[in-house]
Amino acid sequence: MLRADRVSNPLLKSKIMSADAAAALIPPGANVGMSGFTGSGYPKLVPGALARRMKQAHAAGEAFRIGLWTGASTAPELDAVLAEAHGVEMRLPYQSDATVRKQINAGEMQYTDLHLSHVAQLVWYGFLGHLDVAVIEVAGILPDGRLIPSSSVGNNKTWIDQADKIILEVNSMQNLGMEGMHDIYYGTQVPPDRQPIPLVRANGRIGEAYLRCDLSKVIAVVETNQPDRNTPFAAPDENSQRIANHVIEFLGAEVKAGRLPPDLLPLQSGVGNIANAVLAGLNNGPFENLTAYTEVLQDGMLDMLRSGKLVSASATAISFSPEAMKDFNENIEFYSKRIVLRPQEISNHPEVVRRLGVIAMNAMIEADIYGNVNSTHIKGTSIMNGIGGSGDFARNAFLSFFVTPSTAKNGALSCIVPMVSHVDHTEHDVQIIVTEQGLADLRGLSPKQRARLIIEKCAHPDYRPALTEYYERALRESPGKHTPHLMNEAFSWQDNAVKVLNTESA
Ligand code: COA
Repeated sequence: MLRADRVSNPLLKSKIMSADAAAALIPPGANVGMSGFTGSGYPKLVPGALARRMKQAHAAGEAFRIGLWTGASTAPELDAVLAEAHGVEMRLPYQSDATVRKQINAGEMQYTDLHLSHVAQLVWYGFLGHLDVAVIEVAGILPDGRLIPSSSVGNNKTWIDQADKIILEVNSMQNLGMEGMHDIYYGTQVPPDRQPIPLVRANGRIGEAYLRCDLSKVIAVVETNQPDRNTPFAAPDENSQRIANHVIEFLGAEVKAGRLPPDLLPLQSGVGNIANAVLAGLNNGPFENLTAYTEVLQDGMLDMLRSGKLVSASATAISFSPEAMKDFNENIEFYSKRIVLRPQEISNHPEVVRRLGVIAMNAMIEADIYGNVNSTHIKGTSIMNGIGGSGDFARNAFLSFFVTPSTAKNGALSCIVPMVSHVDHTEHDVQIIVTEQGLADLRGLSPKQRARLIIEKCAHPDYRPALTEYYERALRESPGKHTPHLMNEAFSWQDNAVKVLNTESA
């Protein structure tokens, strides 16, 4: 439905003001829940106005920092501007911004890196502190005050429910053809009265198309007209292509063996170029009538929807390149029938992921020879981004893939190491490891069987002899042990990584 007036509720119309006036209503020290998930649906103007206030306060010698909570990563207009103003005391539950990362790793900003499906409940119970203000981008406001969600849902339902005060940014750049595409589930109870989430198909609908909102809490409405970040994707490189081929070949063999149906099971795909390459491979592959139950829809899934390979996709956000966004906007009627956007506690819900039998594919920084995976830390100490939804999916998936090129930093570092420098996904949650070298199916294998397979299939040939030598010596020096290691050497590869990375940054 096309609406000439995006703010059609009279009370909320009376609250329209500038971003500066709205930002003036956010006090220093507040915990602020902002919308935004993977560069989409984040407020475009209020964070910048708030950052200006922070800078003025700091210039006058006054402290002005906030707790910044979002759905996941956002965009420079939110994360970077607030970090550059040195205005964030605590960031959660995920980030991928260079300035934020630098401040976290310099000890200037606290960061709580959380499973994305857990955040809502942690907030309902107050474990993260009290939520003072919500700043939420919406596509429009209905006459009765319900909100048309934007290009991401994330934690918006929870922020709106829990915050004392609400600031709405109504973005007329967001396509109103999305109206009806969202599914906001209000049935979540708390233990011991929790009921099953009644979602039995990836594209099922169990909620409402709009966000409910207590109008008495709305203190400001700001009108904006700006696009989401829309980062372009690199064309798949040779490594990504090879990783994609291994994954697709493996899925084909699983279908042949009768362990997967011909239309597979709902796909979850992490973010980034490798994920996009796997999706591009699936788009040209033999599987038909696919479905997705994932966190973010990137270009690869849109291409598959267009080609008909993918019949439906469930997520909490869309995050497209400029070209894909143009296609989405021009063909909104087609896409909105095939896409469902949900709150992140449902898009990533372990119960639903397990029930649907999701095929999870996530990227990693490194894996060790026993199958433990590090997705978040460089050298065991510096955060890269965060665990995001990878843990929500990996532990509960029917099949759980982790993918990476076999080396980093132009071959100077091996991404297969004796012992990972930080563990996000334990050997118990990691089923299949894939690099451009090959694929290791770890299901049902003991640690020793896994070690041989990972070294043989996934390590780069330049590093295979050293890994084999480490493993053989560990076997000899701790005969019979379940998981042989040379504890005084296990991290020597990380020491080497530190030297390589220090040389790089010098
Ligand atoms: N040792 C040191 N550095 C390494 C490394 C290793 N073994 N492997 C990768 N890196 C560095 C890269 O060199 C690159 O550094 P740069 O930014 O200085 O160039 C950086 O880590 C990112 O690596 P890249 O190869 O570009 O990977 P990516 O963009 O595909 O991201 C993750 C990989 C793991 C960082 C990313 O997928 C992530 O944050 N995952 C966790 C969250 C998640 O899974 N979300 C989806 C769930 S739904």
